[in-house]
Amino acid sequence: MFKGRAVEIAGIGAYAPEKVLSNFDLEKIVETNDEWITTRTGIKERRIASEDMATSDMMTKAAEVAIKRANIDISQIQLIIGCTVTPDMMFPSSAALVGKNLGIKNAGAFDIEAACSGFLYGLSIGSQFIASGTMDTILVVAGEKLSSIVNWEDRSTCVLFGDGAGAAILRPGKEGHGILNFHMEADGNFGEALKMPAGGSAMPASEKTVAEKLHSVKMDGREVFRQAVTKMPESALISINEIGMKVEDIDWFIPHQANIRIIDSAAKKLGIPKEKTIVNLQKYGNTSSASLPLALNEAIEDGTIKDGDTILLTAIGGGLAWGSMILKWGHKE
Ligand code: ACO
Repeated sequence: MFKGRAVEIAGIGAYAPEKVLSNFDLEKIVETNDEWITTRTGIKERRIASEDMATSDMMTKAAEVAIKRANIDISQIQLIIGCTVTPDMMFPSSAALVGKNLGIKNAGAFDIEAACSGFLYGLSIGSQFIASGTMDTILVVAGEKLSSIVNWEDRSTCVLFGDGAGAAILRPGKEGHGILNFHMEADGNFGEALKMPAGGSAMPASEKTVAEKLHSVKMDGREVFRQAVTKMPESALISINEIGMKVEDIDWFIPHQANIRIIDSAAKKLGIPKEKTIVNLQKYGNTSSASLPLALNEAIEDGTIKDGDTILLTAIGGGLAWGSMILKWGHKE
């Protein structure tokens, strides 16, 4: 149960690179076709960052929008929480680089790594500094350049992912609004199902790891699928029940945008109709930690989500780590 001061998202922003890579473009790169990708995943196209654009650059663009919409000065930001599995480099953190890009001084900065659940975990962590009264203004920023860790010869993974970023400014909110609660869970026993094997301390980079393409995403798609359709609805129900809500009280369901079949199955298990489920993966593919803020931002920009609406966010990804959050959208007057 959420304790302490109410915490709201005072501003949200997102960024997607201009370059579009369609399923038809992919047909020219690997042995695949638009029909297979569309029916198995729902994805039609994804965005790809240019060579000279790193994750922190996309994060910076998303953060600029969120800061503007929150109507705050950068001098107010006390903490930057970066969420990514594709940091510019192992260290320094992407959060510190975003701080540099934005000219933020005197703020803490660190990255968390919860893969596709990253933004949800970042919001959950950040909310606690505000709920406790320790801080007043926090930037949570998620971004991924998944195109940089995809094996473009592996059709079973390269068709799934895309690049992008999203950001939120957390501030003290109005009682009963903002982040109503969150749930986080992980099981490292499923760690093998989705991973990038090389480049860490267990398998440092070598000629062999490069030759064997071990610096790219390896995935047991069926296992991830099985876990996703089980854990996302389970987690969502934990959040809904914890605060005495009913599924019908949810105005908008925003699941992690990985695969339309996973989304449809999770929504069906929860009894949430299609009209209340927000889907934009056809345009962006799976952008991991950026997926939730890209979807939330779009639904707010196009007027789908309005002040006072109750939103259910849920995600699962590498770890496996999953979770959910209930948000009441709207701002402090
Ligand atoms: N184009 C054409 N054929 C393909 C492609 C492709 N891009 N990829 C795989 N195939 C072939 C396979 O080789 C296989 O052929 P075969 O029967 O001759 O051996 C056939 O299609 C079926 O392959 P499967 O892997 O069994 O296909 P499946 O229906 O399981 O779909 C998919 C694969 C889409 C990856 C699915 O397992 C899935 O969505 N899993 C969840 C994974 C996911 O979303 N991961 C993202 C990261 S984690 C997350 O965000 C939750």
